[in-house]
Amino acid sequence: MRLDLKKYSALFALFILGCLTFAQDAEARKKKPDNYKTKYVGSVKCNGSCHDAYYQAWKKTGHGKAFQLLGPGERAEAKKKAGLDPEKDYSADPDCLRCHTTGYRQKGGFRDANMKKPSFIDPEEPNKEEVGCEMCHTVAGGSEIRKVMKNTKGKFTKEDTEKYGQRWDYANVCARCHLHPKSPHTPEVDKKYEFNFEAGVKKVHKVDDFWTEDNMDQKLKKADERKKQTAKSETTPLVIEDWKVKQKKKGPKLYLEKSSQPYNKISGKDRKPFKKEHGKKYKKSKEWKKFLEDREWFKYQGGEDKEG
Ligand code: HEC
Ligand code: HEC
Ligand code: HEC
Repeated sequence: MRLDLKKYSALFALFILGCLTFAQDAEARKKKPDNYKTKYVGSVKCNGSCHDAYYQAWKKTGHGKAFQLLGPGERAEAKKKAGLDPEKDYSADPDCLRCHTTGYRQKGGFRDANMKKPSFIDPEEPNKEEVGCEMCHTVAGGSEIRKVMKNTKGKFTKEDTEKYGQRWDYANVCARCHLHPKSPHTPEVDKKYEFNFEAGVKKVHKVDDFWTEDNMDQKLKKADERKKQTAKSETTPLVIEDWKVKQKKKGPKLYLEKSSQPYNKISGKDRKPFKKEHGKKYKKSKEWKKFLEDREWFKYQGGEDKEG
């Protein structure tokens, strides 16, 4: 009898231990943002569980079909007017892709037909081809921002996601393409290319037309609270990226100018001292965590300061 009791208490202890490990696993499975590994994930990832109405609305806009414009014969008149060849296929031309796709030449971003492992294109489900969600909402891709949104069940502040590359400086976001000096579509070419931010914002995703019984539960509950917050990127807008297209042996290649990239990636050089001190476990060290917290994630462009 006594032996049995011992046996049972041992089993019970094992059971408790099992529960604890399981709970720990569950905690580990809850994905934590990884500050320096942010990358583009594509618009499809924003659809399907959280922002279906936004995706459906976006799909129908010019941004959701922007890649198709690069095909031969598309908008022939507009191309001629802009000095472009209406019969040419521009769909793998770096001179166009930065503004007509998502995250081109950045981690996880769109890969054109001339690159290794080109992006898969599904005409029914626009993704990294097209001007996707991440071109307006992030600087370096939505992978980490998604984790914050999920882990907080939507109760995040602007600052929470801004740390991982979300931007809230919408007017500046549009300028990134619509007013970029490298755009072939200037008001000199056609007056219709003059950009009106206030009118434009109303068209980016007319989400009110896309709420259904199935996605109603995805309506943002904290959006009004966030509207009252002022993000750092709103007071000091993020830099507008610039790039160069260089002729290489295999053809032209786009390089984003490092000095104009707002996302301040952690380089191997910055990690070195932590590795030296803590070996492979540096990521678990207090010092490393503090370093991440203290880090200024973005290089802000001084806006008016810079001009003055
Ligand atoms: C700097 C960003 C940028 C670059 C580079 C760029 N585009 Fe565009 N493109 C835009 C924007 C923004 C619009 C929408 C302009 C508008 O309607 O006001 C646009 C619109 C277009 C249109 C539709 C124009 C119309 O009036 O219907 C075509 C076609 C097009 N682009 C082709 C190209 C091609 C081809 C290239 C490369 C040679 C290119 N674009 C490079 C940003 C860019
Ligand atoms: C052309 C730029 C652009 C694209 C592309 C875009 N958005 Fe937006 N989005 C905006 C702007 C601008 C606002 C703010 C609008 C406002 O305040 O009325 C916004 C607001 C939102 C909001 C509300 C955020 C809040 O807290 O209030 C969500 C959610 C959102 N967008 C999701 C998406 C998703 C998902 C996609 C892709 C399917 C997408 N957006 C594509 C520009 C864009
Ligand atoms: C990554 C580049 C890019 C960014 C960023 C961008 N746009 Fe665009 N936008 C385009 C392109 C390309 C088109 C051309 C689509 C077409 O003519 O069919 C376009 C077309 C438009 C149009 C007209 C076509 C339509 O019905 O959708 C509006 C309005 C517009 N953009 C507003 C905005 C606003 C507002 C923002 C910022 C919140 C913004 N865009 C940010 C590239 C961009």
